[in-house]
Amino acid sequence: QENMLWGGRFTGGLDPLMVTYNESIHFDRIIYAQDIRGSIAYARANKNIGILTSDEFAAIEKGFKQVHQEWESNTFTIKPGVDEDIHTANERRLGEIIGTGIAGKLHTGRSRNDQVATGMRLWLRDQLRLLDEHLTSFLRVLTSRARAEISALMPGYTHLQRAQPIRWSHWLLSYGTSFQADLERLRQLIPRVNRSPLGAGALVGNPFNIDRAAIAKELGFDSLIPNSMTAVSDRDFILETLQWATMLMTHISRFSEDLIIYSTAEFGFVRLADAYSTGSSLMPQKKNPDSLELLRGKSGRVFGTMAALMMSVKGLPSTYNKDLQESWETMLDGVKTTSDSIQIATGVLSTLTIFPEKMLAALSPDMLATDLADYLVRKGVPFRETHHISGRVVALAEKESVPMDKLSVKQLQEVDSRFGDDVKSCFDYEASINKRTVVGGTSEKSVIEQIETLEKMLQ
Ligand code: ARG
Repeated sequence: QENMLWGGRFTGGLDPLMVTYNESIHFDRIIYAQDIRGSIAYARANKNIGILTSDEFAAIEKGFKQVHQEWESNTFTIKPGVDEDIHTANERRLGEIIGTGIAGKLHTGRSRNDQVATGMRLWLRDQLRLLDEHLTSFLRVLTSRARAEISALMPGYTHLQRAQPIRWSHWLLSYGTSFQADLERLRQLIPRVNRSPLGAGALVGNPFNIDRAAIAKELGFDSLIPNSMTAVSDRDFILETLQWATMLMTHISRFSEDLIIYSTAEFGFVRLADAYSTGSSLMPQKKNPDSLELLRGKSGRVFGTMAALMMSVKGLPSTYNKDLQESWETMLDGVKTTSDSIQIATGVLSTLTIFPEKMLAALSPDMLATDLADYLVRKGVPFRETHHISGRVVALAEKESVPMDKLSVKQLQEVDSRFGDDVKSCFDYEASINKRTVVGGTSEKSVIEQIETLEKMLQ
């Protein structure tokens, strides 16, 4: 323990399992570049207040360039049992390169508490910007399909029972609208992640009046965290990310579930590309939608990372506690799983084949029973009454064992004399769909409006 960065007051050795239990280097090494960047900014600010001379700062900056280079070229050697985390590893190596006389001044007024929060935030904000790009690409695929395939009609479902006819594009945009909200939420979240904790010290704030704003500016942060105790202990930026990811993954999961159903032989609305399907080891004919099933399954996993971190932080006393190190793995797993999932969903959607004739064949005239009721509404009959009348027509068709649209005008008039000769115009799927011209409806006009709104956001 004496060898450790904090070893001064220790004499005994750590339990060997405690060494590995405690260390985080195997996962936090991912932020080697952000840790170095943060240290250089911190050193520059210390130079500006006279804690470091210009020469010392120059040596530190140069030394760190070499450390960075070693990480990049995979020649950095982690010292087991000594380099417990990325912060100690980088500082240890810097000392070997430029001498501990100068390297030992770097950490003045700083704590790993403000250091780790800085590195995590720098890393996460860049990841979230990448997620923005992935989600934008997904939505671009979705909107361009919605445009290209606007003429495909299919059943819309409630309770998974055929309800009313819709456009395939309207189904696409129903998810598009949720993903659009996810994109909005992401863009609101990024500035809250992108705040600087550096200069908070262990918990009370830097004693040398370091210029926190200058550091934040150099690191590209949008703002400062205004309280030093919050700065070192806050992991809400990760929690919020995982909550955001959980909601997004829920949308991905439901989207996948629909497509899994639509890809069955019984539905046959869509077919997945080979690139996103796998076969069976036993049944030669099988082609399984594994990609969609994994998307559905991984949504549970992302929820799990969110729940795990919520549990880890819920009872913590003020400021830094080692429990906070648990935020690392939930963050890394949640972010990677979400990022991969959005990209897989994009791949699936961009290579999907649709079968509009199958979708059309799945429509049935009884799905127009509401239109039949609406026909009488337009003639001034109260809807509650027309609903009943139309219901009697449904029953009659069932009794006669004919589709509703095959009943004669005379038969319809026997149910209700107010049905006119033009009543058969109700039994037209396309016409039914195009009556839904309200904002957000399934008519061609309304769907195009939805596409245009989404396209505007994606520009
Ligand atoms: N690896 C630690 C973490 O991720 C760094 C902070 C350590 N701070 C401390 N006071 N022990 O949380």
